[in-house]
Amino acid sequence: MKKVFILLAAVLFIAAGTAAFGAISTTPHNLTLNTNPVYTSSSTATLCGFCHIPHGGNTAVAGLPLWARQGQAASFYSVYGGGTTLAGTTVNAPGANSLTCLTCHDGTVGVGITYKNGVAATPYTMTTNTGGHITGNGALDWAGYNSDATLSGYNPVIGGSAGDDLTNDHPVGVVYTVGSAGLGTAPSWAKLYSSRVECASCHDPHDMTNDPFLRAPAATICQGCHSTK
Ligand code: HEC
Ligand code: HEC
Ligand code: HEC
Ligand code: HEC
Repeated sequence: MKKVFILLAAVLFIAAGTAAFGAISTTPHNLTLNTNPVYTSSSTATLCGFCHIPHGGNTAVAGLPLWARQGQAASFYSVYGGGTTLAGTTVNAPGANSLTCLTCHDGTVGVGITYKNGVAATPYTMTTNTGGHITGNGALDWAGYNSDATLSGYNPVIGGSAGDDLTNDHPVGVVYTVGSAGLGTAPSWAKLYSSRVECASCHDPHDMTNDPFLRAPAATICQGCHSTK
């Protein structure tokens, strides 16, 4: 009995250890995994290193999380609704935790290019698997996929053909105001940044439990915030 217990404890310990490394490593955001849509075979690339850096991170915008990438300035983007929602709430320029995503997802910056202290590192050579949506390397990598028409339903490029178009996307840079647009008290999973909704309010870039990288199941995520609609 004692042996069984020890064995069980060991199994639980190993399972816990695996879970700690589980979240992002099996997702399309592990750009070092050769079964993913886009990846590199470079032996110097690290999983976290495509987005984060321990020293020399991007400080252009307050709130960037030790960011190893550079992208466009916030003012580059055209915002939803010409700057106001139907309820009259201001739609500000995208904040830090939208700009993070856009350093890859606006289609203007090659995913293989990382930065330290504002200086570009030698780009990683990226490879595309069948079903992946990137060709070539360097800047404008995703350009061939900017046209929504080329992909049915799924398009990793959010910024449109010039990369700057957020006008047809759910507002970001918008203050979460209870009572506006049927919004209830913000659910605990919704991560607000200075009371604002940004890309990472709905998406957790480390976790595909709710495909695609959502903080709540796709079927109910809208009602989570718009709870009185
Ligand atoms: C594809 C890009 C990407 C990769 C790869 C990535 N992260 Fe992040 N990470 C982000 C973004 C964007 C944020 C800010 C959004 C947020 O609040 O979660 C963030 C935030 C964080 C935070 C602070 C927020 C929190 O959860 O408390 C930590 C810590 C973190 N990441 C650790 C890691 C580690 C460790 C790895 C590698 C195992 C990693 N990340 C890989 C994009 C990435
Ligand atoms: C280092 C570049 C990089 C950053 C930064 C990044 N992504 Fe991604 N993301 C990718 C790549 C590459 C893919 C896979 C694209 C493909 O299918 O070809 C992807 C896929 C996705 C998908 C689709 C997943 C699926 O398979 O259905 C979502 C959603 C997504 N990212 C959201 C985000 C959000 C939100 C952020 C910021 C919080 C972010 N990403 C930051 C590179 C990045
Ligand atoms: C209000 C919540 C919300 C916000 C804010 C949001 N997304 Fe999404 N996003 C979703 C949902 C829900 C889906 C899944 C849609 C589907 O499957 O049809 C999605 C899908 C995606 C996809 C997959 C490709 C596609 O066309 O479905 C990408 C990439 C993505 N989001 C990136 C972003 C980026 C970058 C931002 C910020 C500019 C952002 N998202 C802001 C809710 C959000
Ligand atoms: C994290 C919370 C959150 C989630 C999740 C969320 N929204 Fe929103 N949504 C907001 C906020 C904040 C506003 C701005 C409200 C205002 O006008 O004050 C908004 C505004 C809107 C608007 C009004 C736009 C306008 O022009 O007035 C629509 C429509 C909308 N959301 C649809 C959706 C849909 C569909 C989903 C699910 C895919 C969704 N929302 C998920 C927070 C959220």
